[in-house]
Amino acid sequence: MPLFTPFKLGSLMLANRIVMAPMTRCSAVDGVPGEGVANYYRSRAQNGVGLIISEGIGVDHAASLGTGTLGETNLPVLHGDRPLARWKDIVDQVHGAGGRFFAQLWHQGPLRMPGTGPYPEAISCRPSGCWGPLSGNNSANGHYLAAVRSETPAMTESAIADVIAAYGRTAANARAAGFDGLAIHGAHGYLIDSFFWKVTNARKDAWGGSLRARTRFACEVIKEVKRAGAGLPVVFRFSQWKLQDFDARLVETPAELEALLLPLADAGVDVFDASTRLFHLPAFGESDRTLAGWARHLTGLPVMAVGGVGLDRELKESLVGDVLATHNAQVAARAIERGEFDLIGVGRALLADPDWVGKLRSGAVLPDFRADVFTEETVQS
Ligand SMILES: Cc1cc2nc3c(=O)[nH]c(=O)nc-3n(C[C@H](O)[C@H](O)[C@H](O)COP(=O)(O)O)c2cc1C
Repeated sequence: MPLFTPFKLGSLMLANRIVMAPMTRCSAVDGVPGEGVANYYRSRAQNGVGLIISEGIGVDHAASLGTGTLGETNLPVLHGDRPLARWKDIVDQVHGAGGRFFAQLWHQGPLRMPGTGPYPEAISCRPSGCWGPLSGNNSANGHYLAAVRSETPAMTESAIADVIAAYGRTAANARAAGFDGLAIHGAHGYLIDSFFWKVTNARKDAWGGSLRARTRFACEVIKEVKRAGAGLPVVFRFSQWKLQDFDARLVETPAELEALLLPLADAGVDVFDASTRLFHLPAFGESDRTLAGWARHLTGLPVMAVGGVGLDRELKESLVGDVLATHNAQVAARAIERGEFDLIGVGRALLADPDWVGKLRSGAVLPDFRADVFTEETVQS
């Protein structure tokens, strides 16, 4: 089965095409990943996941983290002695189990709830001061929405430079902790994506305006992460959908997607991660090609698809109820075989069962997803 063929990612050899998607665990008190997190990652490595991407880790900047749209707290960082030592131990355990492990670098930007996080007084970073469309299709609670709706000052030149430097420091720390690569969260309405999206970026200077100009912030972050990562491969996640609006569209045509992705590829991306709600849906009206397929076609780089693998409903449905298992991994396997994309990300199904890969390989019954699986594993251990 094509999912179980090896894949060469830069100088790394992955045992198969299955990637554990980044998933916030909310168990990092004072930014230090909880004790159960090592077990959580190690068990997926032991059970044959080809590559694990960590939960979002806040970059070394005062406004990178705070309470998120769903009330997430206790988010990890990768700076300071205790977080670094804990991540180093987790990386060692994943390597001991034969796994490959990338750190996801995260800055919440406009989605950070003001007045929360490790530095409540820090002003949330927003390209133009706005959070997003308050009437969008989102799952945020009323308390959160009330807190984010006021405008804040737009980021200054020096604030932008500070954040780019923070990405570099965190990339260097990830390398020191032993991670095999870096994953940049450029999706879902967080800081990098809020520069891409014209709804949240109405700047008239060199960081806004045309789509090309709106990629500039991401390009500077990518170059800094590549420099500080000193040879580590970089995965870049992008999406149409936003937590501010699940129906949002960043680009309407393949030509616009090309204008978005080519500058990022030139800046040094090694692999694109096309984050969709359902991986197999066509991205644009004119063909069956998926968003991941278009990214691969337009850039020539390896691409990971993600969204709804192993489950018959998308992420948003899981926020309100249980979701049944399905065997659509075969669809991903066929797409890999015909060269549509290279890797497939699996999120909730791997939360539901650490041995999801083993079950897929042996043809055993796959697990359904129960909503309480979101948190129970790391809370219990
Ligand atoms: C509990 C949970 C936490 C998540 N946290 C993150 C995160 O930290 N960073 C990120 O890029 N995506 C995050 N996601 C999105 C997943 O990476 C993935 O894109 C999404 O769940 C769709 O894949 P799935 O349908 O296989 O679950 C999270 C998803 C879940 C379910």
